[in-house]
Amino acid sequence: MALWGGRFSGQSSELFKLFNDSLPVDFRLLEQDIQGSVAWAEAITQAGVLTQEECQTLTQALAELLAEVKDTPEQIIASGAEDIHSFVESQLIAKVGDLGKKLHTGRSRNDQVATDLKLWCKQEGAHLLSLLIEVKQGLLALAERELDAVMPGYTHLQRAQPVTFGHWALAYVEMFERDISRLQDALNRLNTCPLGCGALAGTAYAIDRQALAASLGFASATLNSLDSVSDRDHVIELCSDASISMMHLSRMAEDMIFFNSGEANFIELADNVTSGSSLMPQKKNPDALELIRGKAGRVYGSLMGILTTMKALPLAYNKDMQEDKEGLFDVMDSWSLCLKMAALVLEGVKVNRTNALAAAQQGYANATELADYLVGKGMPFRQAHHVVGEVVLHAIAESKPLEALPLEVLRGYADIIAEDVYPHLSIDSCLAKRNILGGTAVEQVKAALTAKQAK
Ligand code: ARG
Repeated sequence: MALWGGRFSGQSSELFKLFNDSLPVDFRLLEQDIQGSVAWAEAITQAGVLTQEECQTLTQALAELLAEVKDTPEQIIASGAEDIHSFVESQLIAKVGDLGKKLHTGRSRNDQVATDLKLWCKQEGAHLLSLLIEVKQGLLALAERELDAVMPGYTHLQRAQPVTFGHWALAYVEMFERDISRLQDALNRLNTCPLGCGALAGTAYAIDRQALAASLGFASATLNSLDSVSDRDHVIELCSDASISMMHLSRMAEDMIFFNSGEANFIELADNVTSGSSLMPQKKNPDALELIRGKAGRVYGSLMGILTTMKALPLAYNKDMQEDKEGLFDVMDSWSLCLKMAALVLEGVKVNRTNALAAAQQGYANATELADYLVGKGMPFRQAHHVVGEVVLHAIAESKPLEALPLEVLRGYADIIAEDVYPHLSIDSCLAKRNILGGTAVEQVKAALTAKQAK
């Protein structure tokens, strides 16, 4: 039975019921709805609406209900209730009779759903934080294992300068640390309780809203009833934080897909996160990483969805807002799955040091070193850049690396070049020179890693 039949003389059409009901989505708020209902029963008891005994009966019945249905969502959905709030209330009435009808005194589904969803966001947000930390730990472990493995660093997907694998992994640690701080920030901001705001104007019962907020684990109560029941900023923020984090995950996935390709072959992914081809027996495809890259799209889609749903909605609650949950649930599920999968992929990554080093040695990744050498001998950098460009052109024509060009050839371009140029062109020298805060020198990367591990 619907919660609101009295004013109606006609029945809802079947299509309307199907269209309007949100139970198939919001059944996931069961625990939060019961938690909120218990806190509300206690709050209205303090306000003199219920006796202690009635309160006890209600809270006990709510606890029983939770135990009975929490592991069987299909049973909840099969009830045909309009939404999770109606489900809980009708089950409560079935258990305790007329007393169950008192629980909704002074409360509206508008402050109820706002509270339930914030409770859910807090719980799920904490879970996501722990998963982000896991991925970060996985990257730190990889950085430690492969600290000094050399690989080409890229700009424009052209080999640019050599870097270490440890440096690459720590770049993603920076990104996930920002994701962690963004999520913590969002969780702090949403930590206010809308319960007691009623439908839109505040409840007419003498509820101590701060005490109620504290009893539900919120930092404080919200301050404006109109805003409280119509605010979905937290949904948008979580979708936005997830989108940024999925962007990071997709970039990491893309890097590894390329590193794992036959063309690069710098890493090998483990068997447990790759799959074969039904036709080509030689294939080992990076499906886990491709799916991480792919799922970023649906997460961005949900962010756009909720932003567009909320755009220009008049105060206060509108049914449009029921559309908030499906996208949010999907975002948080996808984000958490991708983080778990990323952690598993990182665990099994093997670096093919020989290939990665060989690639770093090709592609004139040491051209900047030659220019810096000329600068060291007194040539202005812009001129040195031009001269080295000419040397590179020559080397390409001969299919040789810079260090394979004889001294007389090099001196033909700049007579300040001497025998001491060759050590400058080695990979080790390229790396060692970048011993600057944020640089790729092994010593710097080691220090960066130690600092992260100590955090
Ligand atoms: N199922 C609704 C939602 O998710 C609950 C709030 C209903 N409020 C109302 N006034 N119809 O938004």
